Amino acid sequence: MSATPTSRELLAINGGTPVRKTLLPYGRQSVSEDDIQAVVQVLRSDWLTTGPKVGEFEEAFASSVGAKYAVSFSSGTAALHAAAFAAGLKPGDEAITSPMTFAATANCILYQGARPVFADVCRDTLNLDPEQALARVTAHTRAILPVDYSGHPADLDPILRLAEDRGLTVIEDASHALGAEYKERRVGSISHMTTFSFHPVKHLTTGEGGMVTTNPPELAETLRRFRNHGISSDARQRQSSGQWFYEMVLLGFNYRLTDIACALGISQLNQLDANVGRRRQIAAEYTAAFRTLPGVIVPSVREGVHPAWHLYAIRLDLARLTASRAEAFRALRAENIGVNVHYIPVHLHPYYRVNFDYKGGDFPVAEDAYEHLISLPLFHGMNDEDVTDVIHAVTRIVDHFAK
Ligand SMILES: Cc1ncc(COP(=O)(O)O)c(C=O)c1O
Repeated sequence: MSATPTSRELLAINGGTPVRKTLLPYGRQSVSEDDIQAVVQVLRSDWLTTGPKVGEFEEAFASSVGAKYAVSFSSGTAALHAAAFAAGLKPGDEAITSPMTFAATANCILYQGARPVFADVCRDTLNLDPEQALARVTAHTRAILPVDYSGHPADLDPILRLAEDRGLTVIEDASHALGAEYKERRVGSISHMTTFSFHPVKHLTTGEGGMVTTNPPELAETLRRFRNHGISSDARQRQSSGQWFYEMVLLGFNYRLTDIACALGISQLNQLDANVGRRRQIAAEYTAAFRTLPGVIVPSVREGVHPAWHLYAIRLDLARLTASRAEAFRALRAENIGVNVHYIPVHLHPYYRVNFDYKGGDFPVAEDAYEHLISLPLFHGMNDEDVTDVIHAVTRIVDHFAK
């Protein structure tokens, strides 16, 4: 397929031939033969869970992001919950976060009985605006949860300074940002705790899974206990020491990641640099193709930042188009381009409106961005033809709807 459409091609939505025969999803895992073999080996071993692969994955992950400790969890949501617990969040406390995220970031505050307080985002990156966050700090604030939206790290230095001044814990939700860098530091080594998700659309997958990285040993210990019912030792430690005695010292959960999943994680970690590199390459091709396309605003990248590109979210300049975002979205889907929208701002979900009195207009920058956003397919397994198809389809549609 050519990436340069002829003027006003007939769109698939109007009966034209779609750019692709089959749907290109917005995200997809890549699983290699080595990954499969790594999992099979564990299935043949003595330990399907709480075995040696867990520590091996955690050590390899910690070293890859430059943190002292990494503690694995059964999902990114469980990792967030554990971090909220380890930060000491409790009823009566408040924690500040971004509305431009998946609900799990704010939900983990609720799991601890604390109150989620949203603050608006920066117009360029759609990451938590440190000044807006500062304006929402009260005597009850205990934590702040910036989100590295789309894989572009949040403005961490001012957020960490604010946290230091007010004695807050920073839990960075880096579900999108494994492999990203902020001012020559790797994401995962900067905040008090950083959480990751290993859902299949992410840079590394374990099916479901998550991780918290941190430096203080006491936080790592609390996180380990929280994921294991609050018990002071795990089954393998007891087996190797020949003891039956254990104590439950806090109220935890079963949030353990299995050895099966950890073996997959170790094997996938070997591909991380290549995967992030491929995502960066695709993002650069999109930006080169769309930067001068009237009607499309490409994502911004701040100086000193190397995003990991979980998402490539364009914003439509609707003043220059005859279509709404919904029409452009439908037209792209008809071309078999699996576009998506990230995110409906969390405060607009009925649960948050009803229980916390949030309403439309509370966070104008996030809400305005939401009205214009479309996430294009981006995953490391995309081949060159996939990339060309996306560029062709976006160009075709924008050209068709140009004013
Ligand atoms: C920003 C963000 N936070 C948290 C999560 C939750 O991660 P998980 O699906 O692994 O529970 C996701 C998952 O998509 C996410 O994108």
